[in-house]
Amino acid sequence: MSSGRTIEIVPIRQHRDASAALGVVPAPPLSLYVHLPWCMRKCPYCDFNSFEQGGEGVPEERYLDALTADLERALPEVWGRSVRSVFIGGGTPSLFAPESIDRLLAMIRARLQVLPGAEVTMEANPGTFEAQRFKAFAQAGVTRLSVGVQSFSDRALAALGRVHDGAQARRALEVAATHFSGFNVDLMYALPGQGLADCAKDLAEALAFEPPHLSFYHLTIEPGTAFATRPPAVADEDLAADMQAMIEERLGAAGLLRYEVSAYARRGRRCEHNLNYWQFGDYLGIGAGAHGKISFADRIVREQRFRNPQRYMDSALAGDAVEARRVLTCDDLVFEFMLNALRLVEGVPMAMFARHTGIDPGEMGPELRLARAKGLLDEDRETLRATELGRRFLNDLQQIFLRANES
Ligand SMILES: C[S@@+](CC[C@H](N)C(=O)[O-])C[C@H]1O[C@@H](n2cnc3c(N)ncnc32)[C@H](O)[C@@H]1O
Ligand code: SF4
Repeated sequence: MSSGRTIEIVPIRQHRDASAALGVVPAPPLSLYVHLPWCMRKCPYCDFNSFEQGGEGVPEERYLDALTADLERALPEVWGRSVRSVFIGGGTPSLFAPESIDRLLAMIRARLQVLPGAEVTMEANPGTFEAQRFKAFAQAGVTRLSVGVQSFSDRALAALGRVHDGAQARRALEVAATHFSGFNVDLMYALPGQGLADCAKDLAEALAFEPPHLSFYHLTIEPGTAFATRPPAVADEDLAADMQAMIEERLGAAGLLRYEVSAYARRGRRCEHNLNYWQFGDYLGIGAGAHGKISFADRIVREQRFRNPQRYMDSALAGDAVEARRVLTCDDLVFEFMLNALRLVEGVPMAMFARHTGIDPGEMGPELRLARAKGLLDEDRETLRATELGRRFLNDLQQIFLRANES
């Protein structure tokens, strides 16, 4: 998934940027995110940029043409750089025919140097998939399938407004495990009416498939969603904390170690693409509403494409689908770096801060001292890492690094 949820994007305009304060920024690793925005039905908890497909279906051909035009326009921004991971997210990318995914990946490889062995992830919903399609996605070049299971309980799935049931979720994972050595299971906890035993059952069912990677998200009620208008009864904070503790313990015992707030992996099976976001790498984002972050010698730029699929396609085909572009200020860089890095259980080397932002870590002295004094940040000066307390109160820790921009 794209990691820009809390980042404010402003329309293209002049901004007091960081170029005066930055040294030469060496380019960090580059990833590519491709957004396919349609779904069978909009889930009541979802605030991703996703749209019901409607009676006329998904305009796959035109959307692929738009993605091609979008990527071609963006090529000069990443000239000469190679791509180390590709993530096809949504929406529900598995709504697209395997032939379209094949065309998409061939189009990307013809224009960008995708490193040999690069991770190529695609999100899939159990409701739209069948064995034949998954195999074909693998044959098209997808190396890692991320299956949106959410729960195996028919009751919980109905309460979440999902289009699939538990049996379809199990079948989906069987097929994913057959065709993909790398697959991920997306689950959520603190669901409407869910107790600790229900959560434990979901956990055990998922583990039966021996997934190399698992993401377990706390269901959040996002503004603007149907759940925000009619909130369901969900677990209180104490019960949710008990669920989280149980999840971490049982997954850890099964060899799936927590390495980020919601992500667990076996050794060597972490998601390279998401790690690049959390380590403040670069990413080009194409598709409706996609975010991008690209480093240049003297500045770091954020971009966002038009969110509405129709508007996106029209603008991309007319030559430019970027709705907002912004040069990040020093203050943005400090906050955004910490917003990401502090999510990682092992944190990141302090040297990475300088390398990926171009800013001297000494700039953050007061904030670092405050975070350590509050017990939220590890005392190790070589590593930026939240303490256990810091992870529990991650928002508070991240807010310490939020500065008022003088633009
Ligand atoms: C891009 S989304 C959707 C992928 C796919 N379309 C699906 O629904 O299975 C990736 C994951 O984010 C999680 N997610 C979405 N909305 C959420 C919410 N409000 N709270 C917690 N997790 C959420 C779900 O686990 C979902 O599988
Ligand atoms: S299927 Fe996934 S992306 Fe689509 S509405 Fe549901 S949660 Fe959102």
